[in-house]
Amino acid sequence: MNLTSSPVKEISGEVTCPGDKSISQRILIIGSFLNCDIKITGFLNAQDPLSTMKALKEIGALIKKDGDLVEIKKRSRSFNTTKSPIDLGNSGTGIRLLTGFISGLNLKATLIGDESLSQRPMSRVVDPLVKMGKKISTNDGKTPIKIKGGSINDNFDFQMPVASAQVKSSLILASLSSGNSIKIKEPKVTRDHTEKMIEHCGGKIDIQNSSEGKIITLHKTNLSEISSYEVVGDFSSAAFIIVAALISKKSKILIKNVGLNKTRIGLLEVLLKMNAHIKIVNKKKTCNEMCGDLIIESSDLEGIEVPDHIIPNIIDEIPILSIAACFADGETVIKNASELKVKESDRLKATSDGLEAMNIRHNMLDDGLIIYGDNNNVIASTEIDSFGDHRIAMSFLVAGLRSKDGIVVKNCKNIETSFPNFCGTMNSLGMDIHE
Ligand code: S3P
Repeated sequence: MNLTSSPVKEISGEVTCPGDKSISQRILIIGSFLNCDIKITGFLNAQDPLSTMKALKEIGALIKKDGDLVEIKKRSRSFNTTKSPIDLGNSGTGIRLLTGFISGLNLKATLIGDESLSQRPMSRVVDPLVKMGKKISTNDGKTPIKIKGGSINDNFDFQMPVASAQVKSSLILASLSSGNSIKIKEPKVTRDHTEKMIEHCGGKIDIQNSSEGKIITLHKTNLSEISSYEVVGDFSSAAFIIVAALISKKSKILIKNVGLNKTRIGLLEVLLKMNAHIKIVNKKKTCNEMCGDLIIESSDLEGIEVPDHIIPNIIDEIPILSIAACFADGETVIKNASELKVKESDRLKATSDGLEAMNIRHNMLDDGLIIYGDNNNVIASTEIDSFGDHRIAMSFLVAGLRSKDGIVVKNCKNIETSFPNFCGTMNSLGMDIHE
């Protein structure tokens, strides 16, 4: 599906942030493990969490969905094996977290995904799970992941070689579901929703900050039942609305209920350094996660050098940050971001190709981008390919509001994996995105 984003002069209004994708998937997994009746509100009713839901149902979880209300029901039986492969579609979080969770449950299973997921590296979770005692095979580090047997050892000590919350969470879930303990050293801080959710459910998990980074220890633990869970809004989805407001010549936008977990909001820090006008109001804690409302106004952005330590914290926001950089005065430098190459697409190349099509002067590095912004409206000389990647598609559609004659983005279907009502939400604020 191709979409066109036409130029608009002004955007304004108020929207509620869609539910957090990472948290929606985690509450399905941890909630099913708790085995009690739980009402989930704020759930992200999008393809990725739905793939994780379907997978959990296939191994015996009882989950009901009525619109945005999701209910997990107490099971009378334990989880079961399933003969047919479990298909996680486009969801990297789904496949990696469930590989850990299912490994800990001692079930046999084969996990697969769509064309994009089949190209992504799975050894990063499979190798440590094998070291923990599991027998798992892959197709040369890619799907299918076949969990064949073995059991998780207690007291596993692991130093994270890549900054990845999916790897960290996969191993924590393997230990949790097998009733074991684990210690993980994380040199670069990544999103900590799994740790926060375990803590919220009364699990024994300690976090220490050392000179070598974070040390996360999950002790042998019994979680307590919860009866409800409220998912906060997804900062990564809010990022598209934030940047749209900043680059629009005339805007004032209120985004309600945005998740403000410290390990997720690096983009705010970066944008504030770029001279963005963003205010946080009504801050509160919901189910052990910070959230609040954001007020954003048009801003004269300035290019900056993005600090290296913040990269894992903004990894999903780099494509949309690149759009902000196009309309900033001066150079924006992003380095140490080679993880972008193994996301839903090679996001370094996809972003660079899109910038090229918009005639934005930039250099693609081996691990980042240097973008020379000039605050002029852009002229797209060709259609832009999103390579089926939701965040690439949404980023270039946002850029369309500051184009001279509109921007056509190809392969937009996967926007439904994380932000199904993206077009409706953006158009309600005054954008003009259409087929
Ligand atoms: C996620 C972790 C990140 C992120 C992804 C969601 C998660 O991936 O890019 O969109 O829910 O844990 P990595 O762990 O591969 O960095």
